Amino acid sequence: MQTVSSVEEMKRYCRAVHTRGRAIGLVPTMGALHDGHFGLIQRAQSKCPVVVVSIFVNPTQFGAGEDFEAYPRNLEQDIRALESLRVDAVFAPDAGAVYPPGFSTHVDPGRMAATLEGAVRPGHFRGVATVVLKLFQIVQPDVACFGQKDFQQVVIIRQLVEDLNVDVQLEIVPTVREPDGLAKSSRNFYLNSEERQAATVLPRALHRAQELWWAGERSPAPVINAMQHALAAEPRLQADYVTIREPRRLEIPETIEPGSVALGAVRVGSTRLIDNVIFGPREMSDAKLVDLVLARYSRPR
Ligand code: PAJ
Repeated sequence: MQTVSSVEEMKRYCRAVHTRGRAIGLVPTMGALHDGHFGLIQRAQSKCPVVVVSIFVNPTQFGAGEDFEAYPRNLEQDIRALESLRVDAVFAPDAGAVYPPGFSTHVDPGRMAATLEGAVRPGHFRGVATVVLKLFQIVQPDVACFGQKDFQQVVIIRQLVEDLNVDVQLEIVPTVREPDGLAKSSRNFYLNSEERQAATVLPRALHRAQELWWAGERSPAPVINAMQHALAAEPRLQADYVTIREPRRLEIPETIEPGSVALGAVRVGSTRLIDNVIFGPREMSDAKLVDLVLARYSRPR
């Protein structure tokens, strides 16, 4: 496995792969790798003979007072894990390589970056969109894998790819969870055992929304109410938002349709956690639910 920190060297490596006619799958991450990331890597490996994983804690997507400094960094451990997964190359640049002195151009994702996570974390998606486009430019991936876990990020990157004519196939991988339902996240490392237990209320509240939909409820208001109620029952947890959106514009739908999404963000102590579930038939697999969302994208506007 190649470990590369220079932008030029990464470009050279990827050009050489493409010259040999081989496709590249890219998995962008901020490291502190866990099973959620590994699921994306497996997907990339199933689609492409060469897989590049980037590890970069991107400063521009963290706001003042957020956890940029504290964000878990285990580069050596991550590299060992990627080696054992037979990843072909790791791109782990430092901030100066990605944002050299004089850097001044950013990607503005527009309206969809102002809601949900963007309302609580202004500038977050500008930072995400900028670094993801830079990674696309450096690696020129044929396929890039992202997790459903960060649903708004998926929607914004999909729009970026369409609006800026990026030649990449996006693969969206269902959320990988702990046995008790909590979505795997690098930020789970911050939780003490009480907080860890309280955090499971978020996936349970989202699951409650699905149950109401399965029982026939199609109106967002009562379902949102039920989720708020479920979250309020856990005093150690403070809800930033819990809502229902359609997956193309992230607007509140009039009726909850297959492919609509329930999303929530909570704070447990000083840790912020996000999660979401996709509405669809009870027996439908997580992968098929993601397909429902993707089908909504391909409808004519
Ligand atoms: P990070 O939080 O490290 O996540 C990297 C990728 O892993 C994202 O696509 C995320 O959605 C996915 N992921 C995280 N937890 C997951 C889980 N439990 N199940 C499935 N997928 C999961 O997201 C970022 O980094 C950054 O914003 C990045 C895109 C790298 C840009 O800096």
